[in-house]
Amino acid sequence: MPASQIDLVEMTPDHLEGALALSQQAQWPHRIEDWAMGLALSKGVAAIHHGRVLGTALATLYANDVATINMVIVDESMRGMGIGKRLMDAALEAVSGRECRLVATQDGLPLYQKLGFAETHRIVQHQGPMSSIPLSEGVEWANSSDVADCMSLDRAACGMDRRDLITYLANNGRLAVIRREGRVAGFGAIRHFGRGEVVGPVVAGDSADARSLLSFLMAGSEGQFLRVDTSEQSGLASWLTELGLSHVGGGIAMVRNGKPRETAAVQTFALASQALG
Ligand SMILES: CC(C)(COP(=O)(O)OP(=O)(O)OC[C@H]1O[C@@H](n2cnc3c(N)ncnc32)[C@H](O)[C@@H]1OP(=O)(O)O)[C@@H](O)C(=O)NCCC(=O)NCCS
Repeated sequence: MPASQIDLVEMTPDHLEGALALSQQAQWPHRIEDWAMGLALSKGVAAIHHGRVLGTALATLYANDVATINMVIVDESMRGMGIGKRLMDAALEAVSGRECRLVATQDGLPLYQKLGFAETHRIVQHQGPMSSIPLSEGVEWANSSDVADCMSLDRAACGMDRRDLITYLANNGRLAVIRREGRVAGFGAIRHFGRGEVVGPVVAGDSADARSLLSFLMAGSEGQFLRVDTSEQSGLASWLTELGLSHVGGGIAMVRNGKPRETAAVQTFALASQALG
């Protein structure tokens, strides 16, 4: 089929089943609920032929000047025909000049490099069945009045105003916080995803606090399949491996139109996901 017969349309919930088939073909773990979450937070574009979804891309626009591009997939039988490039052009148009971040697979790397994305750092993915872990002290479940503080900390750490994402996590997952002198000094989130649960984002002032938050969030998931995506420089990889969460792969964090940022007192120790940063 000539690639010219493939239309690009705005992605809607009607395309989610077709999108799910693509991510399953690529052996990604997303459930339809995970796709629905991504689409609810993003503008999506789908490549369609006779009603069949042959490709997808999501552009997640955060309230300030940053966006992520994610869920870029083309049906295996249709690769190498320029569909990925068309989807990326449409996603970049939606992003319209913002700083744009993504986490690339080896498959996506050549395409993103050609579009002006440059590597910033490496992401490592750890996962596995969770064994028992002692409940850490100094961490507690967040209450509704903590959500605004979690948004502020998240923004300071990653430079993106992800209030919609944090609201989603507060409503559909659970948030935990560390308090110091009556203020929220770090937070983490857990939610259902893929084969089990994912912990992230985890935002803290240092790796000791990050480990306390992760331990607290993971303690309730004994026997469950758990995933954590972290950066190579977070220093958490060997600790996660010791807990039984094996290193199974990762990705290449990239940026286009990156803006300089001030150094913050907190940093992101675990990603919400490779898609959302
Ligand atoms: C990445 C992906 C979306 C690319 O889709 P595609 O339709 O095959 O890409 P295109 O045909 O538009 O190719 C775009 C450009 O990248 C280049 N390219 C694509 N795949 C390449 C590869 N494996 N090696 C070298 N170059 C490659 C093409 O040559 C083309 O460059 P050109 O326009 O200068 O010729 C597709 O391979 C895919 O779905 N992979 C599995 C899911 C995945 O990993 N997605 C990326 C998530 S970050």
